[in-house]
Amino acid sequence: MFVTHFLIVCICLGTNVLAGVYTRSNSYPTTDAERLSLLDMDVELAKIEDTCLSSAEYEQMTGNRLKAILARGIAHIWVPESVAIIGFQEMRKVLKFSPPHPLQPYNGTEPTSAEMQSASTPEAYYDLRENSIPSRSKYAGEWLFPHNVATVIELLDARFPSIRVMFKKAFKAEHPKNEMVDKLVVDQLINEYSEIFEKIDSTTREMTSPRRKCFHAILNRKGRN
Ligand SMILES: *[C@@H]1O[C@H](CO)[C@@H](O)[C@H](O)[C@H]1NC(C)=O
Repeated sequence: MFVTHFLIVCICLGTNVLAGVYTRSNSYPTTDAERLSLLDMDVELAKIEDTCLSSAEYEQMTGNRLKAILARGIAHIWVPESVAIIGFQEMRKVLKFSPPHPLQPYNGTEPTSAEMQSASTPEAYYDLRENSIPSRSKYAGEWLFPHNVATVIELLDARFPSIRVMFKKAFKAEHPKNEMVDKLVVDQLINEYSEIFEKIDSTTREMTSPRRKCFHAILNRKGRN
């Protein structure tokens, strides 16, 4: 009798412990894709942060219309705005929505809950929210034309293809293929987007900031001329 009870107690405890382990592991990255995307990301971000863009590359961002010294002055507005749009493009692809609409200025007013509820499709709901996602700069509209963003995106894609890949990987891990898209999925992806954007943004900000290391690179170049 005692032995049977003892066994039952043991089995129950065992199950609880297992249950505990399973529940807990849900909050950690569970799939290889998720783990990989986290791992790669740190390495890729470090590489970007460590890059000194050349004067020619800054000039390319402006379609070679401005010399480097002016181009550097505006890169801190142009680059974040372009990173944001790369994120939107990838988010729309994963959700199988149409590509981004022509660039709209950031709208700091969030849609009301009545507006969000009355959006008839997940895509209409996403369209409503995209423009007020706070990664955009309030002032960007005064600093660039939409075609400027296209040119910067071209340079970023060529120079740092990992930026697009980081967004893509994170969205695919968050939204597995064939899962139905509803407003909740859109919310989840927008949250994921915001996290990834912040990480990339702080890295590219560091890269475009007038850091000692990059200034040395310019001075050395001047010295050689
Ligand atoms: C900004 O968003 C709010 C809420 O969705 C909307 O009512 C307003 O018309 C938008 N403003 C512009 C300029 O698009």
